[in-house]
Amino acid sequence: MMEKTPTLEDLPDVGGKSVLMRTDYNVPIVDGRITDDLRMRLPMETIIWLLDHGARRVTTASHLGRPKGKPDPRFSMEPVRAHLRELVEAAGADPSKVELLENLRFDPREEAGDLSFAKELVEGHDVFVNDAFGAAHRAHASVVGPPRFLPSAAGRVMAREVEVLGGLLEGAKRPFVAVLGGSKVSDKLGVIESLLKRVDTLLVGGGMCFTFLAAQGHSVGESLFEADQVDTCRRLLESGDQIQVPSDLTVLSPGGRFGAGVQPSGETRQVGADVPDEWIGLDIGPGTAAEFADVIGAAATVLWNGPMGVFEDPRFAAGTRTVAEAVAATRGFTVVGGGDSAAALAEFGLAGDVDHLSTGGGASLEFLEHGDLPGVAALRSGMVAT
Ligand code: 3PG
Ligand code: MG
Repeated sequence: MMEKTPTLEDLPDVGGKSVLMRTDYNVPIVDGRITDDLRMRLPMETIIWLLDHGARRVTTASHLGRPKGKPDPRFSMEPVRAHLRELVEAAGADPSKVELLENLRFDPREEAGDLSFAKELVEGHDVFVNDAFGAAHRAHASVVGPPRFLPSAAGRVMAREVEVLGGLLEGAKRPFVAVLGGSKVSDKLGVIESLLKRVDTLLVGGGMCFTFLAAQGHSVGESLFEADQVDTCRRLLESGDQIQVPSDLTVLSPGGRFGAGVQPSGETRQVGADVPDEWIGLDIGPGTAAEFADVIGAAATVLWNGPMGVFEDPRFAAGTRTVAEAVAATRGFTVVGGGDSAAALAEFGLAGDVDHLSTGGGASLEFLEHGDLPGVAALRSGMVAT
């Protein structure tokens, strides 16, 4: 078992103190409007705890998007700052006590993990709280640096993520079923290997299923497919009987257009596990979706990460929808990895029906692969000599 990550209760008394708080306010913004503020609402619990315990000031700091180490107005924190003010006011707290620094990635030292930047950030602060689980897989200056200088702890969001995802690795109730989708096997190999040591069943859909199907000798047509991963998929399939791949597919005719915001074209068809030449597989079929739903319904623990098809296109949303509904309905304990699966759940109105919706995309996968993250390890190692 991993050493405990310090939480707010482990901090010295924060009364009268100035707190530096790393958040992951990397929220989607369209035309200056925040379209999903989950990553801002959740850490409010931490901010309010700190203020309720007498903190004089909470200075939050986050990255937003991927500016290239210099100021870029497209990634300004202004819309986030305005919304943070609204959230603090709505919580009945004093907004003058909560600040937000400018985008950390405007300084090249952030992504370089340069401790001189961390040292500047901690200047004038007494304690550090990291609630940025979604960024904890990045060994960036503001993520791993501050615990070297200040007493530090995980905020509520971070602590919950570590507890829930750590629980999946260290004793999930069986049957434990993982459902993985998304486009590339190569992105998920580490997490697949880690999960195969723990799950009873691993259901595979999404673009990545075609490399597994190819490894079984099926034809994949023009579907997403990673030729250099076929041998790896074959080895994984032969390593046991946990992996379950689609037995039917929804496919689109040659040259058909698909995806979000395009004029859809082409003919769709349900086929078995073989994609006809020049056709492209874009969703699991209804038979597979029903099989996956049955397995999910019988599980005591479910982890879902990655859509089953191109759900942004309604013709290829059924597989993801069926899986989302099964995850929402099962009596088992359900954990959904951030990113696209969270977006799918939100689109189907089911985001409130899972036990844990992770705020981390890459971070949750890396945590499940390694059982730890640089930002979490930094909190545990605490203040080392500067
Ligand atoms: C995310 O959105 O996954 C996190 O905020 C991390 O962002 P990054 O992938 O740009 O490091
Ligand atoms: Mg990312």
